[in-house]
Amino acid sequence: MTGKFIVTPWEVKGNIDYDRLISEFGVSKIDDALLHRIERNAGELHYFLRRGIFFAHRDLKWILDEYDKGNKFFLYTGRAPSGNIHLGHMVPWIFTKWLQDRFDAELWFQFPDEEKFLFKDDITLADTEKYTTENMLDIIALGFNPKKTKFIIDTKHAGLMYREACKIAKKITFSTAKAAFGFTNEQNIGAIFYTAMQAVPAFLPSVINKKKIPCLIPHAIDQDPHFRVSRDVIPKIGYPKPASIQCRFLPGLGGMNDDGKMSSSSGDNATVFTTDDEKTVRKKIMKYAFSGGKDTVEEHRKLGGNPEVDISYQWLTFFEQDDRKLEKIYHEYRSGSMLSGEIKQILVDKLTMFLRKHQMEREKARDKVESFILKL
Ligand code: TRP
Repeated sequence: MTGKFIVTPWEVKGNIDYDRLISEFGVSKIDDALLHRIERNAGELHYFLRRGIFFAHRDLKWILDEYDKGNKFFLYTGRAPSGNIHLGHMVPWIFTKWLQDRFDAELWFQFPDEEKFLFKDDITLADTEKYTTENMLDIIALGFNPKKTKFIIDTKHAGLMYREACKIAKKITFSTAKAAFGFTNEQNIGAIFYTAMQAVPAFLPSVINKKKIPCLIPHAIDQDPHFRVSRDVIPKIGYPKPASIQCRFLPGLGGMNDDGKMSSSSGDNATVFTTDDEKTVRKKIMKYAFSGGKDTVEEHRKLGGNPEVDISYQWLTFFEQDDRKLEKIYHEYRSGSMLSGEIKQILVDKLTMFLRKHQMEREKARDKVESFILKL
């Protein structure tokens, strides 16, 4: 075995064994039958699904059955503002945008601006407020439909959310919270209550519209403990159990062994931020992207590189949409005809193109922020 790893909503570390997570968390693997089913409903298969980047789910078949019956679902996801957005954060949102387009679904996007304040020592509410607006720019830049996307901010929409959060909180005991999140008696009570706030958007549209609307939550696998708990409680207060679909993490530049998730807290050089300029991106990839190549060119040509551990290759599986191109890169690198410097250059070009467009849209988003925020 590859040793220890940790995946909780507050900490992701080590070389993650995703198959083991499936059984530990009790989610289901997305199998071929389900892939075909999604393809039939969506009209195509997103490359994140083809490549197992979105790999697990809860009740996805139910959501699609309801969809077939004409009972449309809404999407729910979120971001706890706490810093700048890096490419790893974007993975679930890129997929959420595809779901919105393919299923013509409304999206409720939560900004729990109290979450990181409650869970971390070094961040104030003024900080999270600043990051809320900054983070919104990155989300809007991905092209969500403004008519079908609603941003809710916990401290701003508290009047609407708190009633519902209380109903949820009343049904969760401290021992359930301890078991799901590993809390001890030293945990502050705000953090213990927090999961109730994260549950609310999964049924808030049903409350507002006074009818039961199915909910699908795309998210990175570390958030599953929240929804494991809320799925038990939401039906008890009269709303449908939300379905969910989970993705893996984009590995940090330093490689998958020391940090399974790309974390902004492991230093600016382990990540690429959406606001990094071209020179910075190039420098980070060339200097820090862990290489699966051999030590000398001679050896590399003879023995070939290892794409499994090569971060440039791994990142290309997230950012190169064309399967044929990706496969060609795999074989050339594996065989040794492509060198480390060359695969890095391919990644730099890919990210440069992606970020150029993103940064343009991000600037244009400044004027749109207000129109995305839920009006009461
Ligand atoms: N807890 C998430 C974070 O740390 C934010 C979040 C709120 C979220 N609601 C969500 C994430 C729903 C995924 C789905 O960023």
